Amino acid sequence: MMITGASRGIGAATARMAHASGYRIAATARSRDRLTPIVEELGGDAVLPIACDVTEWDQLTAAVRNIEESFGGLDVVFANAGALVNTSFRETSETPDVAAWRDMILTNVYGVAITARATLPALIRRQGHLVITGSVAGTGVRPGNLYSATKWATSALAANIRADLVGTGVRVTIVQPGIVDTDMPGPELRAKPMIAADDIARAVLYAVRQPAHVDVNELVVRPTGQDADR
Ligand SMILES: NC(=O)c1ccc[n+]([C@@H]2O[C@H](COP(=O)([O-])OP(=O)(O)OC[C@H]3O[C@@H](n4cnc5c(N)ncnc54)[C@H](OP(=O)(O)O)[C@@H]3O)[C@@H](O)[C@H]2O)c1
Repeated sequence: MMITGASRGIGAATARMAHASGYRIAATARSRDRLTPIVEELGGDAVLPIACDVTEWDQLTAAVRNIEESFGGLDVVFANAGALVNTSFRETSETPDVAAWRDMILTNVYGVAITARATLPALIRRQGHLVITGSVAGTGVRPGNLYSATKWATSALAANIRADLVGTGVRVTIVQPGIVDTDMPGPELRAKPMIAADDIARAVLYAVRQPAHVDVNELVVRPTGQDADR
């Protein structure tokens, strides 16, 4: 299983749970140093750490080559890496941090798209499974929220990629978490109900462990009591 954004949060929790379920894990993040804790925790032989920025095509294709050579194939890709910056389209500052907007769009949309593009030949060879992390923020209107718009895009990517793969045997799942207790939610969200990264890892494992004829397309997983507009 290749996991992008495996250095912490949902990706690291999924690496732990998938490893305990018998998967070999290719853990990726932008720097190998940040992968050291998960590699040390799971044991060096069990995890293949790969530095890979999901916005860099050459790094993704090199990662896929490395994984196929090391594992003999690639069965599951969890396109999970993501970024969040708070936004308002009505901000009056003359120097809004639009560079942060660009980085978030590149990571959450372009990064997922080229992760799929780089890994699908390998997944098609193995009739594998692509899992994408979206968000409940990609299922409803969030005033002024560009992150939400990027997650609408991941929902569309999952649906359109799945449609493109009909007949290949590859399955596509989008997991749409509510607020998860990771480094990502800011202080304004932390007082609200949260689920744990493990709760999302369990949803990922649920999808990928179905029989080959069962394609779980969408999983929305919120903390009990989360506001309807979250
Ligand atoms: N936490 C929530 O409430 C929540 C809710 C809904 C959806 N999500 C989504 O869940 C996913 C995981 O988020 P999280 O909560 O686990 O956040 P996190 O703890 O901040 O982890 C984000 C992960 O993404 C990686 N990453 C960021 N940019 C990257 C890039 N350009 N290339 C490669 N890796 C990159 C980070 O690795 P490095 O920084 O080490 O490179 C890190 O491993 C994201 O897609 C997020 O949008 C989170």
